[in-house]
Amino acid sequence: MAALDSITERLGALSTSEDAAARLAAFRDCADVRVGWPAQPPTAPKNSEGWFLRANESVLRELVPRATLVLELGSYIGKSTRCVADLLAPGAHLITCDAWDNAFLEDALGHNYLRDEGERRTFDLYETFLANLWEARDRVTPVKMLTAECCAAVATAGLKPDLIYIDADHDYAGVHADVRLCTELFPGAVLVGDDWDYAGQSQRLLGIASMAST
Ligand SMILES: C[S@@+](CC[C@H](N)C(=O)[O-])C[C@H]1O[C@@H](n2cnc3c(N)ncnc32)[C@H](O)[C@@H]1O
Repeated sequence: MAALDSITERLGALSTSEDAAARLAAFRDCADVRVGWPAQPPTAPKNSEGWFLRANESVLRELVPRATLVLELGSYIGKSTRCVADLLAPGAHLITCDAWDNAFLEDALGHNYLRDEGERRTFDLYETFLANLWEARDRVTPVKMLTAECCAAVATAGLKPDLIYIDADHDYAGVHADVRLCTELFPGAVLVGDDWDYAGQSQRLLGIASMAST
């Protein structure tokens, strides 16, 4: 974990302005129905499925308690979200983004998320996420958008995440776009993510190196 020391120093430094809390409150209360929680509790059963391993958790355990505002891109039904929510320092907050769209996941993105062609989930992604995270809604804000829309909405609201967990699109172009957008909109934020050794994403590392050097 010594390798994490230098980046942990940057956490907490970006979201300390006096009106950060007011901006977050305004974002949470905005009229866009894709932001925030429904009034009524979800009726779907909880489900502990997900793509989140102990290695991911050990990194987040170091970083999240030092962060003020965490942005997660790619929640699925909230396994990583739950972990981040449980690690947040008092007063810190998590904005988590996902399309939460079964057809999008299984058709357009199916090549990355299905073990067998034709596999279909028997549960609704969004309703299951809401059920899994309902008790953490005081410190978690779901944003049901594509990642690019969400990043733009967060930036437009004047919010500055200091830690971003990237685990959404797993194809090179999509991940490259997410990383580029986050570095442009939230300069100085610490970026971490899952599946850095995934086939499409290993190319991304070269892309990041190339972006950094241009
Ligand atoms: C690997 S899963 C996330 C796993 C999750 N972090 C966990 O702990 O189980 C990737 C998620 O990203 C979402 N996703 C992929 N591309 C997206 C995009 N462009 N915009 C929004 N969500 C996206 C998918 O809907 C899926 O739920």
